[in-house]
This record gives sequence, structure tokens and C-alpha cells, in this order.
Amino acid sequence: MPASPIRKLTPYADQAKREGKKVYHLNIGQPDIETPEGMLNAIKNIDFKVWAYTASEGTLTYRSKLAEYYNKLNYNISPENVLVTNGGSEAITIAMGACLDPGDEVIIPEPFYANYNGFACMSDLVVKPILSHIENGFALPPINEFEKLITDKTKAILICNPNNPTGYLYSREELEELKKLCLKYDLFLFSDEAYREFCYDGKEFISPMFLSGLDENVVVMDTVSKRYSACGARLGCLITKNKAVMAASLKFAQARLSPGMVAQIAGTAAVDTPDSYFQEVNKEYSERRDILVKSLNQIEGVYCPNPGGAFYVVAKFPIDNSDKFCQWMLEDFEYDNQTVMMAPATGFYSSAAAGTQEVRLAYVLNKEDLKNAMICLQKALEVYPGRVIN
Ligand SMILES: Cc1ncc(COP(=O)(O)O)c(C=O)c1O
Repeated sequence: MPASPIRKLTPYADQAKREGKKVYHLNIGQPDIETPEGMLNAIKNIDFKVWAYTASEGTLTYRSKLAEYYNKLNYNISPENVLVTNGGSEAITIAMGACLDPGDEVIIPEPFYANYNGFACMSDLVVKPILSHIENGFALPPINEFEKLITDKTKAILICNPNNPTGYLYSREELEELKKLCLKYDLFLFSDEAYREFCYDGKEFISPMFLSGLDENVVVMDTVSKRYSACGARLGCLITKNKAVMAASLKFAQARLSPGMVAQIAGTAAVDTPDSYFQEVNKEYSERRDILVKSLNQIEGVYCPNPGGAFYVVAKFPIDNSDKFCQWMLEDFEYDNQTVMMAPATGFYSSAAAGTQEVRLAYVLNKEDLKNAMICLQKALEVYPGRVIN
């Protein structure tokens, strides 16, 4: 079972803090944005006598409310297509368990959300990575590269859109290409849409659920964690129009009994969050992205694409090794008693030696802190002993 690359440097950050350094956390996708008031009020005013299990698939009230939310976005679903889960994480593990047998293969463009490795391990699945490249902003690799990886064990392709860690937002054309491939080889298309709400520059989010003729293949995994800045609610869902997948998923859901009752009450209220909340949050994130991308590209030897969504970037640094560099930042570096914690991109690749010069940064801090973190990073790159010329 692999350790999380996002959390493995935490002891070094703790030590840096004990030494009195201020650590800017750009390593983890824990937003600083406030959770919508309506969601919090719903649990403050809670009224029940028994804190009971709910139905394994989630309460009908919450699933109906979710159907309302998705149908506003044109998913064209009913509550029967929704299974409520304990976070998006559980939606992914249930989808993998329900659709693939031990030893089956899932193709995932890399770099990818590192926990996919752990989830695949839990179901004894084989991840087949396919390299995407920083030079074209981590666009979908050519479809013939996918085709080369397909064996009789291949059962699914997994995409994360907008992408964690790269922020890349897949276009309709790219999804149409994937659709053709999934239909040709009868593959599931898993769509992790944790960052759906975070699309910038007026760019449109496209779900494979919007594509005609793919209903039997698509499984969406979703979460309230990022949408409502509610990571601690541990609430997500799996959506599919494939009845057999839903029936198998329900068995997995029954084995873990139930999603949390309180979280579902909060989630039901969350659907009524006014659009103005998302407009403000989006404006804030896109301004942060602009600051981060501009500051990074101004540092000598650094390259950072300008992603269309989520709240992450993967940047290339003039360094020998991103694991060493990120650890060195915490252990051996400080500027004005400050340092920056980042996630080495190596943990988001499963191909050996990929990402050794790349780092993921999450723009989950306010603009002032982000600017200070970038000054700190620039100073660090000037003196890092493992600096190389690209
Ligand atoms: C791409 C992606 N999928 C799924 C998850 C898991 O989310 P949850 O907190 O709902 O389990 C995360 C969390 O960071 C994520 O980035």
C-alpha cells in the first residue's frame, strides 16, 4: 500500500514549525475558503433523537436534491442514478470494486491524483499510466497512445477533470476521442469531477455524461469536499446510468452500511447555495492562479503552464530532484524565517523517473500569503545546492 506523497513531508514541516519558521502550505488541496453558511446552519439547527444509519444508497431526500443539482447542469439523471458515498474517495473505491476484477487494468493519464494508486491497490487492480507532458499543459495524450496500452485485461479509463494535479481542463473534442475508444473496446470511463466548479477564463466544463451514446460506460465520482470547501463532511457520490454497475455498487455500499446522516443533511442544504458564492470563489481562485502562474514564470529557469481549472499547478523547476528539493525547503532553508511546503510531482507519476523536476503547488492560500510564498521560493531556487541548468 503506497504512502500519500502529499502528506509524507509533514514531519519535516512540523519540525520547521517547532523551529519557529512560518510554513506556507502549498502542498495540500485543503481550501481556506469558508463553507457556505446554509450548509453550516443546517447542522447547527439539527433536530433528531436517534443518530441513525441511513439507507446504504443515501437518503432519498439527499439523492433527490442531488439529482436537482446535476440536472441543472444537464446530466439528465434521476435519484436512482445516484449512490451517496463517504467522500469522493469512497465513490472511487466503490466504482473500481464494482467494475473491475482483481488483476484488471485501468488506464490513467499521468501525472494523476496519487491516491488512485492506493485505491487500485485496495482492489488489486493494475494502473497503466499514460504520460501527459508539461510542454502542452498536460493535454490528453494522443488516443493511439491509449490504444497501444489496451489488453484483454483493460476494463476502464480514469480521468480527473479539471485535473488534479495539473489543473488541465479537458475539451469536448478530447472527451469525444475518449468516447470513441471506450465504445470501440467496451471500456468504462471513470470521470472524477471533484473540481467541476473550478473552471476559469470562461472555459466550459464538459462531463462525459453530456456525450450521447455513452450511458452504459460512464461512472462519475464526485464530492462536496472542494465544491463547498467541506472536506471534513466526508460526503461524495457515484453517478451512473448503467443499472448493473449501480446494482454492484449498492452491494459494496451495503457492506459499509451507510453514509453519514449529518453529512447528508448538510449536503441537502448545500445544493441551495446561491450562485453568487461560486462566482466569488471562482474569482478568488482565478486571481490566485494568475498570481501564482505569473510569479512562477518570472523565476529564472521555472516553467508553469496556465491551467484552465481546479486549484493546482504543476511547475518545472531547475532542480536535480523534486523530493530532495521539497524536503530541503523544510529542513535547510528559510527566508525571513519563512519557507514553503510543496508536493514533489514524482508521487503523482507511476512511470519511473517521471516528474523529478516537477512540483505541484495548490493555490489554497490568500493572495498576500501566495505572493510571500513565491518570493520565498525564488530565494530558495537561487541558493539550492542541487540547482541545474535546464
Ligand atoms: C481528484 C480528487 N479526487 C478525489 C478526492 C477525494 O475527495 P474526498 O475528500 O471527497 O474523499 C480528491 C481530494 O483531494 C481529489 O483531489
